[in-house]
Amino acid sequence: MNQLKLPRIIIGAMRLGSWGAHLSKNDFNLFVNGCLDMGLTAFDHADIYGDYTSEAQFGELLKENSSLRSQLHLITKCGIKMMAENRPDHHIKSYDSSANHIISSVETSLKNLSTDYIDVLLIHRPDYLMEPDEIAKSFTELQNQGKVLHFGVSNFTPSQFELLNASFELVTNQVEISLLKRDALDDGTLDQCMRYGIQPMAWSPLKGGAMFTEMADPGVIRVTKVGDALCEKYNCELDTLLYAWLLRHPAHILPVTGSSKLERIVAAKKALDITMDREDWYRLLEAAAGNEVA
Ligand SMILES: NC(=O)c1ccc[n+]([C@@H]2O[C@H](COP(=O)([O-])OP(=O)(O)OC[C@H]3O[C@@H](n4cnc5c(N)ncnc54)[C@H](OP(=O)(O)O)[C@@H]3O)[C@@H](O)[C@H]2O)c1
Repeated sequence: MNQLKLPRIIIGAMRLGSWGAHLSKNDFNLFVNGCLDMGLTAFDHADIYGDYTSEAQFGELLKENSSLRSQLHLITKCGIKMMAENRPDHHIKSYDSSANHIISSVETSLKNLSTDYIDVLLIHRPDYLMEPDEIAKSFTELQNQGKVLHFGVSNFTPSQFELLNASFELVTNQVEISLLKRDALDDGTLDQCMRYGIQPMAWSPLKGGAMFTEMADPGVIRVTKVGDALCEKYNCELDTLLYAWLLRHPAHILPVTGSSKLERIVAAKKALDITMDREDWYRLLEAAAGNEVA
């Protein structure tokens, strides 16, 4: 059975390096240690982040302090082949979930992250050419070798999840969920996670920051208006409220933060102290949808 136990909030690494904040080594160190001090020990990576450079940036920390490893949960992903200077053999952006690619990608991630095991490996996006039994075989091999403890998927439809899960027991589906991106509430993704007793992970929980930058977006205007009143009631800022909305769902969603700023991670964590009233949850949903939802 699935014995994966992760903290309720996961720290996303996508924007920490060259795809975002370009944190210096010192700031990177401070950020990661600040998260650990808050008990937020799970970090979400992917082979491709920073054009295949971000895992190694994180690995530098472990190289210098290998005792950190036992305090961490490392999640990473494979299966997207991007064109990049350091991947001259990729001639087109494509998906590859072949056993060869999964295994070689894991070997590279282990090396880059300076670790001998990954806690959770996700197939990053569904591959039209995926062969469930071949994937299951590579997962079993990696698990038997102790190189990966658990396996999941990302951006899979419920039927794609079902197809692979029939060959290998998956522990999560990481999908985009926020008040402004609510497909998972209706397309069966969250129902399926509840049925299997696994926790979905929500990427872009603040819609990639759009909640704070797309001020002319009608959905943002409506959510901000309703949110401002609720922030007073719950004594928090809007970002905390948006996390609390996700956390209130009975699927026990694990939000994956995107910020590179510790104070914004503190704001995310504060949401763990809020239990949103049922009607307030619906108030925000109605505001996001722009119409009655019941
Ligand atoms: N599986 C997938 O396909 C997939 C796809 C995308 C992402 N992910 C994962 O999900 C993680 C989160 O995604 P995301 O980065 O899109 O998350 P997000 O939290 O929705 O967006 C993060 C962005 O919002 C900004 N932001 C956060 N709080 C803010 C605030 N209070 N005020 C103003 N701006 C704020 C951040 O800037 P600052 O840094 O300045 O705070 C950052 O640019 C990624 O790191 C990655 O691990 C997975």
